[in-house]
Amino acid sequence: MTNETSVPAAARPRKLWGGRFENDLDPDLHRFTSSLPFDRRLVRHDLVGSLAHARMLRETGVLSSDDAGPILSGLSLLLTEVEEGRLEVDGDDEDVHSWIERELFRRIGEPAGRLHTARSRNDQTSTALRLSVREAIEQILPELAALGETWLAIAREHRETWMPGYTHLQRGQPVSLAHHLLAHFWAIAADRVRFERAHASSGVSPLGAAALAGTPHPVEPRRTAQLLGFEDVFANSIHAVADRDFAVEAAFACALAAVHLSRWAEEVVLWTSSEFGFAKLSDSVAKGSSLMPQKRNPEPAELVRGKAGRVIGDLTALLVVLKGLPLAYDSDLQEDKEAVFDALDTVRACLSAARRVSAGLAFDRERLSGALEEGHATATDLADHLVRRGVPFRAAHEQAGRAVREAERRGSSLADLPLDVLRSACPDVSDDVASFLSVDHSVRSRRSSGGPAPEAVMEQIGLAERELEEARGWLRRRRAPPIYRAHCEGRLLDGQIA
Ligand code: ARG
Repeated sequence: MTNETSVPAAARPRKLWGGRFENDLDPDLHRFTSSLPFDRRLVRHDLVGSLAHARMLRETGVLSSDDAGPILSGLSLLLTEVEEGRLEVDGDDEDVHSWIERELFRRIGEPAGRLHTARSRNDQTSTALRLSVREAIEQILPELAALGETWLAIAREHRETWMPGYTHLQRGQPVSLAHHLLAHFWAIAADRVRFERAHASSGVSPLGAAALAGTPHPVEPRRTAQLLGFEDVFANSIHAVADRDFAVEAAFACALAAVHLSRWAEEVVLWTSSEFGFAKLSDSVAKGSSLMPQKRNPEPAELVRGKAGRVIGDLTALLVVLKGLPLAYDSDLQEDKEAVFDALDTVRACLSAARRVSAGLAFDRERLSGALEEGHATATDLADHLVRRGVPFRAAHEQAGRAVREAERRGSSLADLPLDVLRSACPDVSDDVASFLSVDHSVRSRRSSGGPAPEAVMEQIGLAERELEEARGWLRRRRAPPIYRAHCEGRLLDGQIA
């Protein structure tokens, strides 16, 4: 049994519970249940959450100014010391929330014990995680925009670099490299919106739920939410502490973005192989083999591809933790953090790696367009030519297929087939059909919106620029939580904040 009064305050392990226990927890189980090794990462966020809570308690009169003053300045001091790297979060505490309370107690003594009025660690852990997910998303989004910017710059240069577009990894129809790269651009543009939504879902304050059943103290959860820069506040105190949907949404945004990056990365691996030879990796984005001196391995791209697996794992872990979990808070929820942190960290790292690899790729225009010399990529153009001359598409498809068979038999391209031979397969072709069967004509004729013709791609580039402008606008509008700004400016005790 710990004798709370005989141990000097500073050295006392400050457990947040214990009154009803006679003996200490088994040390192994203490280690097993401790979240400090990973939730120490939430120290700044929990301090900010605590500042908002303390400030609200002072405004509503739950805390007297005499108590709120030292609490606010003590928390603010801790935050500064942590941010400046002068204070490390470690020790034997069971989680970061206990660590903070102990450190606060060490500095200001008894008023520290009043900070926990009308809140529980259940609200705290969710609040801190929400703040940290928001911060991580705010760091991911500039990386995402920078990658989009890089792809867009490459696309601008390659509006007239022809290459095969593929289905089933078989050459399908001619497109431009710009068009192909922009396909990846739009995938991550949609990720941007998903991240912003996850950011908004994370902006719902659970502070004031107080464990699960609210509090008899006159709190103002809306005020706390406002101080934290959250857009909304919980409607149900049980849901407030049980809900981790925001974390799932963030992990899903991560998982899908990682999947998108893996599809791009797979193409980098394929395209830089000797078999494709569409692009070369500069030295700064390739690695060598310890055994085979000639090797130039696309390892960063391979890892972008590979890491998608673990991010999907993070999302899965989170969903499985939640599945069937009884309301409200259960310790299982402590397992949310490592998964979300890992998903957010991994995606951010993958975005940065993808940008670097993209900048280190040199495309081989000849190889790209050379890949169109074989494979009859303009067979659809032949069918479309027949359609324009009145042949129903089904019949046109059949006839063009016969022409392909004949070209294959002769080892010739479609455009090089003698007119009479072509006519025996496709009786309705015009005399100048050959001009419709060139790659150049094929791409330039596909002017439908969202298509590969250079003018259509120009329009697409305009849309992509607008998309990036929206992404930057969202980031420009982001503001640090008002309570954090008040901390930075030393205004925590001012009459007015926000
Ligand atoms: N460390 C816990 C977590 O990360 C917070 C404590 C929740 N409350 C409790 N009574 N165990 O979720």
